[in-house]
Amino acid sequence: MLHFQYNVNLKSYNTFGLDVEAQIFIEIFTSEDMVLLVQSDVFKNHFKLVIGGGSNIVFVSKKIEGLVVKNAIQGIEIINKTKENVIIKAGSGMYWHNFVLFCIENGWGGVENLSLIPGTVGAAPMQNIGAYGVELVDVFESLEALEICSGKIFNFDTNQCQFGYRESIFKNSQKNKFIIVSVTFRLWLKPVFNVSYGAIKDQLAASNHKELSVKAVSDAVIAIRKSKLPDPKVLGNCGSFFKNPEIEVSFFESLEKKYPKMPHYLLPNQHIKLAAGWLIEQCGWKGLIKNNVGAHKDQALVIVNYGQATGQAIVDLALEIQASVYLTFGIKIEFEVNIF
Ligand code: EPU
Repeated sequence: MLHFQYNVNLKSYNTFGLDVEAQIFIEIFTSEDMVLLVQSDVFKNHFKLVIGGGSNIVFVSKKIEGLVVKNAIQGIEIINKTKENVIIKAGSGMYWHNFVLFCIENGWGGVENLSLIPGTVGAAPMQNIGAYGVELVDVFESLEALEICSGKIFNFDTNQCQFGYRESIFKNSQKNKFIIVSVTFRLWLKPVFNVSYGAIKDQLAASNHKELSVKAVSDAVIAIRKSKLPDPKVLGNCGSFFKNPEIEVSFFESLEKKYPKMPHYLLPNQHIKLAAGWLIEQCGWKGLIKNNVGAHKDQALVIVNYGQATGQAIVDLALEIQASVYLTFGIKIEFEVNIF
């Protein structure tokens, strides 16, 4: 049975804590119900928006005329175990960190560096989440996605997902055409740890763990994130608001003469990735508050709602930041979040 609700406030369904009303709202807990939903008249006859954890979206409009679907598909299943790996499938509406905790409790390696990332399992491949030297693609096996127009479920492997830096086919050519219903991961039974990231090394050295374990690495990541990133339950935010920009080596060399301390990373494609947080900080935005919105005092890449900010005030500040970074460095930093 599909249970539609009307005029529902979405404040608790978006991590910026914005006041926005959905004309029609439904929460879906199984892939079978999701299939029923896309075949229903309410779905077919209205504008629709599917949300997961609401941790990557800014609502600019006060009311969504149409249907908002909260994907809450649950379930976790071991598909296969080999000598080295466990293949595990999770419902796309499960909270990402709950999935990570489940893997850590079992001692399975691969997602410990991705601890405490807000959002859901289904949103993880959508934008190929990443942190501390690991990306979703590193543990990805496949996913199942429901094609909206046909109501059929298709399987996508790594190549078909066309993963990039915070990118996948579901944000590009197949945008709004599929709903991800499950994600299958390949995890390690005898984990090889990725602790190359400086902050993890320092955190591990400071902690008193007896031996390196998925739990120790996860705890270190959680401690780093808690120390730097504001908790959306306390201060509304969507994590990184912008993507880190990639520029040509020749352009970087000209910038480096003026800014020798600029953090940078050489990419395999011979481009240079810069830290958007550093660029924003250099432009004087870090810790500044305007209309209840500001770039966070500990991590300028995170825009924060300090109270009753509107979605428009958040976007306006983001545009101002974007313009000032362009004016100072000649670099356009792109939004990582979706504006709606
Ligand atoms: N920096 C500053 N000032 C700031 C922020 C950062 O100078 O206000 C400098 C740092 O000192 C460092 C560099 O910028 O030298 C990079 O900073 P950090 O390690 O904090 O990472 P980031 O590039 O700002 C990315 C991801 C985060 C992820 C971290 C850790 C993006 C858009 N963001 O941030 O992901 O947690 O790396 O791996 O790629 C997210 O996507 O929501 C997110 C939080």
